[in-house]
Amino acid sequence: MIRTNRFALVVMLLLLSSLAISLESWGYGRTQNPIPPPAPKSMPPASQQPPPGPPQPVSLTQPPESPSQKQQQDFSKNTWELPEDADKTPNPVPATPESIAKGKELYFGKAGNCVFCHGDTGSGNEANLPKLRRKPADISNKERMAAMTDGEIFWKVSKGINGIMPAGEKRMSEEERWHVVNYVRTLAKDKPKS
Ligand code: HEC
Repeated sequence: MIRTNRFALVVMLLLLSSLAISLESWGYGRTQNPIPPPAPKSMPPASQQPPPGPPQPVSLTQPPESPSQKQQQDFSKNTWELPEDADKTPNPVPATPESIAKGKELYFGKAGNCVFCHGDTGSGNEANLPKLRRKPADISNKERMAAMTDGEIFWKVSKGINGIMPAGEKRMSEEERWHVVNYVRTLAKDKPKS
């Protein structure tokens, strides 16, 4: 009795294990895997492929201390490079209401676009501050502006600072830049007589 039962048990175990082996060999073990097999890795996804055309010299993998990249991105030490005696250049355009009106148009318009950084009043455009590399000077500050001649303002507006303030001479005529100077003078309350 005990012998027969043992024998039957062994036979059943053998049958079960052979069934399991054959199920697996039919592919059951694999097809029931919920995780799809990874895609072949011979090609990177399209987003990681370099763009067509000649290879780009500057890439994200370039080390940050590369001199070319530093030159492109570090504007923090740039400052005015004005001609000597720039401050002695006399203002040839009288500050008439017409001149000031033209200067105002340039200050707010596309050509000058001073308003983008210096704001409506000259004290700085708060809304754009996060986008700027450097906080603009407060050109409504009367002490600050009184210490500057028209000639100096003219040259600062003309030359700008590379990467910090655009060079106005590229977008405005000489006369237009003097109109801007005349308008900028009205932003400070107590403007000096020049
Ligand atoms: C992209 C932003 C930007 C624009 C546009 C811009 N400026 Fe500036 N401006 C600055 C910054 C920043 C400074 C301060 C630079 C420094 O001294 O380091 C500055 C400084 C100046 C100064 C010198 C103030 C001082 O105390 O030395 C004057 C004057 C001035 N701007 C006038 C103008 C005028 C006029 C325009 C339009 C024609 C203009 N700026 C357009 C950012 C700008």
